[in-house]
Amino acid sequence: MIEAKAPGKVILFGEHAVVYGRPAIAVPLLDVQARASLQPAGAGQGFRIIAPDLNRDFLLGQAEPGDPLASIVRLTLQYLQQTAPAATLTVASTIPLGRGLGSGAAISTAVVRALSQFFRQPLPPAQISALVYEVEKLYHGTPSGIDNTVIAFEQPVYFIKGKPIQRLPVGQPFTLVVGDTGLVSPTHKVVGDLRQRWQKEPRRYEGYFDEIGAIARQARIAIEQELSGVGAIGKLMNENQELLETLGVSSPELEELIAAARQAGALGAKLSGAGRGGNMIALTRPEHSAAVVQALQNAGAAGVIITEVKQN
Ligand code: PMV
Repeated sequence: MIEAKAPGKVILFGEHAVVYGRPAIAVPLLDVQARASLQPAGAGQGFRIIAPDLNRDFLLGQAEPGDPLASIVRLTLQYLQQTAPAATLTVASTIPLGRGLGSGAAISTAVVRALSQFFRQPLPPAQISALVYEVEKLYHGTPSGIDNTVIAFEQPVYFIKGKPIQRLPVGQPFTLVVGDTGLVSPTHKVVGDLRQRWQKEPRRYEGYFDEIGAIARQARIAIEQELSGVGAIGKLMNENQELLETLGVSSPELEELIAAARQAGALGAKLSGAGRGGNMIALTRPEHSAAVVQALQNAGAAGVIITEVKQN
């Protein structure tokens, strides 16, 4: 049996503005993962896809057109110039679905990796990322490509849409606490609503995107520095959150968790991903992380993860 996995991700800076060409920063979230396993079956049994978390069990040949799981399998087989083997693909994930942690891109990445291992045709991260991007379009409509990039490369990235990947050196480790509102928020809906507001008032929204881009550029410098302390990163997260609120992609539930984290000693906090629900992140000193976790739980977080972004 073949087994492959892929991590989740958090966006530290620049979500939404990244769709409009501004830079953004994301890191892999190695504490949660998607897994794909491929078990050969008897001849003539077809290619079966089982995703227990999604309540799905179907044959590839009978999938609806545009189905994301069937699409990533078909695209990968086509790229590898292979036909579907008689096998069962089982997909599972500890990444909460639809909460801005990259569950869709992680599941697709694990599937591409499993198929390429099965056929002994290893693929470089850039190719995996390109295949996953095609399917991200089904989930997102107009994805920037940041999710597939950070997940396929499994490295912190400074990302600009349409440009080659830029790995982000991390000069000093820092601790993040990730808090889940428990609310599912479809990315394509939040991105689509913002697009309508941008179409009505392009100059105003381009101005906000410019400000967010400037924050991402400053954050890159702050993250790369070795000895400056992480306070500057936290301050920039707070500034980014203010602009996300102005864009209309935050929510009372996110803001409650963000306020709780700040009161418990976080150096900065913001929503992460599409917003309107999903997850928020807080930057903490390691000695404050337990208090921040407790504060988020008291404020009603559906799940909390502590993660360290390592020096690289
Ligand atoms: O998939 P999410 O919820 O992390 O959203 C991705 C971030 C956006 O900037 C909102 C969309 C995109 O394509 O970059």
